[in-house]
Amino acid sequence: MLLVDADAQRSSSIWLEAMESQMPYEVIQSPDDLLERIPDLTAGCDHLVVDGPAGLSEATRAILFRTDLAIVPCQPTGVDLRSASDAVRLIRQAQSVRSGPPQAAVFLSRAVKGTKLLDEAISLLSKTGVPVLSSVIHQRQVVADTFGQGATVWDLSGRSATEAAKEFEKLFKEILGMLP
Ligand SMILES: Nc1ncnc2c1ncn2[C@@H]1O[C@H](COP(=O)(O)OP(=O)(O)OP(=O)(O)O)[C@@H](O)[C@H]1O
Ligand SMILES: [Mg+2]
Repeated sequence: MLLVDADAQRSSSIWLEAMESQMPYEVIQSPDDLLERIPDLTAGCDHLVVDGPAGLSEATRAILFRTDLAIVPCQPTGVDLRSASDAVRLIRQAQSVRSGPPQAAVFLSRAVKGTKLLDEAISLLSKTGVPVLSSVIHQRQVVADTFGQGATVWDLSGRSATEAAKEFEKLFKEILGMLP
């Protein structure tokens, strides 16, 4: 697997460095470079994962023109639901230009169990027409701690880390199952 870090804050590649991970990565941020380099990079690995920038920009469009699958994490708050539907709009534009791809899905992230907002979010998101994954990632301190610890939830101990790891495993399986 190869990670392309397209976020100006470089959080995913800084995290990989902190973990001393063996996973290769490239920092590519300009829309032109993303558009031109993703195809060649894809040819050299089994999976290429692009961490997109915050907000919607030309870089996001470039990524959507070159990838098979777009995954949109969404927090169950009004403002995040709005951003998710803006992201879905960009995805639809790319699907129209490319006559099909990228496939897309939304999943709920940082959800708090048993809140009314969560159920409302799921029903609102399903109206966007993009599938909502059944996997939900809940809000947990241990997830917030991973970056600072230079670790993943699989490296950290305790029940909360194990539960978070299970949620991420379910999410990854669901995402891999969508790949063409
Ligand atoms: N499940 C979770 N539980 C608790 N904190 C979380 C969880 N997921 C993410 N966070 C925290 O929320 C913050 C933003 O998370 P993250 O960087 O993954 O979001 P992002 O969507 O990539 O944001 P951006 O759009 O700014 O790149 C981080 O501080 C992270 O630790
Ligand atoms: Mg990010």
